[in-house]
Amino acid sequence: MKDILTVLNDRRAAARLGGGQKRIDAQHARGKLTARERIDLLLDEDSFEEFDMFVGHRCTDFGMEQQRPYGDGVVTGWGTINGRMVYVFSQDFTVLGGSVSETHARKICKIMDMAVENGAPIIGINDSGGARIQEGVDSLAGYGEVFQRNIMASGVVPQISVIMGPCAGGAVYSPAMTDFIFMVKDTSYMFVTGPDVVKTVTNEVVTAEELGGASTHTRKSSVADAAFENDVEALAEVRRLVDFLPLNNQAKPPVRPFFDEPGRVETSLDTLVPENANSPYDMKELILKIADEADFYEIQEDFAKNIITGFIRLEGRTVGVVANQPMVLAGCLDIDSSRKAARFVRFCDAFEIPILTLVDVPGFLPGTGQEYGGVIKHGAKLLYAYGEATVPKVTVITRKAYGGAYVVMASKHLRSDFNYAWPTSEIAVMGAKGATEIIHRADLGDPEKIAKHTADYEARFANPFVAAERGFIDEVIQPRSTRMRVSRAFASLRNKSVKMPWKKHDNIPL
Ligand code: HXC
Repeated sequence: MKDILTVLNDRRAAARLGGGQKRIDAQHARGKLTARERIDLLLDEDSFEEFDMFVGHRCTDFGMEQQRPYGDGVVTGWGTINGRMVYVFSQDFTVLGGSVSETHARKICKIMDMAVENGAPIIGINDSGGARIQEGVDSLAGYGEVFQRNIMASGVVPQISVIMGPCAGGAVYSPAMTDFIFMVKDTSYMFVTGPDVVKTVTNEVVTAEELGGASTHTRKSSVADAAFENDVEALAEVRRLVDFLPLNNQAKPPVRPFFDEPGRVETSLDTLVPENANSPYDMKELILKIADEADFYEIQEDFAKNIITGFIRLEGRTVGVVANQPMVLAGCLDIDSSRKAARFVRFCDAFEIPILTLVDVPGFLPGTGQEYGGVIKHGAKLLYAYGEATVPKVTVITRKAYGGAYVVMASKHLRSDFNYAWPTSEIAVMGAKGATEIIHRADLGDPEKIAKHTADYEARFANPFVAAERGFIDEVIQPRSTRMRVSRAFASLRNKSVKMPWKKHDNIPL
C-alpha cells in the first residue's frame, strides 16, 4: 500500500509539473501564470477537484510516442467561486504549447457535459498554440466536438472565456460562441489568420498585438468584453462577474446581502440633466446612484461608448443595465451600439436577469456609413431583443426619446413593465427644430415665424405628459427618487411569468 501511494504521489507531482520547470520559468518570464496557478486564483481556496490528471494522447506519428505528458496540455475540473459551483478548463502552454489533441479536447468536452448536466457555468482559460499539428484531423475533430458543446450550452449555463496567451485559427471560434471573452493586455491575442498569412495574402504588415491584441478586440472589433493588466486582475474580475450571474437558466441570480437603503434619495439627480437640452451629462452617474453600493460591472466599456451595458444589484439582486450615454455621439443609436446592447439584452433574457433601461436618445445616427453598414438590420437586433425579452423590464427616460429610437429603447410598446419618465423628458418623433423645418417648410424664410413654430412644438412635445396621457409612460417621477421607484418596480415583478408562442427558434436579423 505504501509503495502504491508513493507511485500515486510521484505521478501527481509529475502531472502538476506540466511541461517542466524550465518551461514554467519561461511562462513566468513572459508575465504569465501557469494553468494551475490560474485555477488556484480563480477558484476558492482548496475547492478545485481535478479530472483526468493522467490522461495522455494516443498519437504515434512524428515521434509523439516518445512524449506523452500527463494531462495532455489542459487541466480540467470543478470548484467554487464564493461557494458557488463552476466547471473550469485551463490550457497548459508548458505542455506541447497547450495544443489541442483529440484527448485534450475530450477532457474539455467531459467537463462541458458535466456543467450542462449539473447546471453550473463553464470557464475556459485559453493559452494554446492551436490544433496539435502532429495529430491532423483528429485534432480538428476535437475542436468540432467542443464547438458543438458551446452551442448546446449557450443559453443553458453561462460560458466565460479568458484568453491568456495565443488563441488563433479556428480555435477562436470556441471562445467566440461563449457569453463573455476577457483578455490580458500584451500577453494574449486572437485572430483567424496570423500576421504572416495576412502579409502574404493582403500585403498588410501588422504585428500580432495590432492584429488581435486586447486593445484591438475591446476597442475595434468588440470580440472581447474587457481587457485587464495581468492574469491576476483578469481572474479576480471573472470571480466578480460570476457573483452577478445565475448558475444556469433555471436558477435565479444570487441574492447578496446589501447595506444600501433601497429608498435612498439622491437630491443631486434633480440637477443631473442640464438646462440646455443639447448639453451632455454623464449617464454613468445615474447608474452609480441607482445601484446598491454604487457597484457597477461594466461590459464592453471601451466599445460603442454611446451605449453603456453592465450589471448592478438592487436590493442585492442582479439587474442588467442598458443606458444611452449623452457624452458620446449625443447618445444616439448606431450599428455598434445596437449590436452591443442587443447581445447584452439577449444574455440577460436567457438567464432571467431583469433589465433596467435608461433612455436619453436623440435617434439613430445618420449617414452613408451607417446605411451601407446595415444599420437597418443591426438596429433591428436591439428592437428584436427587447421585444422578445420576457424578463422584468423597467425603463426610465431622463431626457430625449425621439423617433424609432424611442420605441426601440424598451418602450411600453415592446412589453416593458414599468416605464417612468423624468419631468425633463422629451418624447417626440424628432427634435423641435427638425420637426418645424418639415411641417412649416413654407415659413423657412421667416426666422420669427420659425422661432414661434419651434416654441409651439417644444411646448407641445418637449415634455413627458403627452406620452403619460396615453399611458405610454406609467408615471412621471422625481429624479431624486429613481432608485426607490426602480427598486420597488423590480420587487413587484419577481414573480413575472410570460409565455411565448411555440416556435423552433426565432429568426433574429443577424
Ligand atoms: C504542436 C505545438 C503547437 C501546435 C506550439 N507547439 N504550437 N505543438 N502543435 N499547434 C509546441 C512547440 O513546438 C514548442 O515545443 C512549444 O509548443 C512552445 O512553442 P514555441 O513555438 O516555442 O512558443 P512561442 O515562441 O511562444 O510561440 C507560440 C506560437 C507558436 C506562436 C503559438 O508555437 C506557433 O506558431 N505554433 C503553431 C501555431 C499553429 O500554426 N497552430 C495550428 C493553427 S491551425 P517545444 O518542445 O519546442 O517546447 C488551428 C486550427 C484549429 O489551430 C481549427 C479548429 C477548427
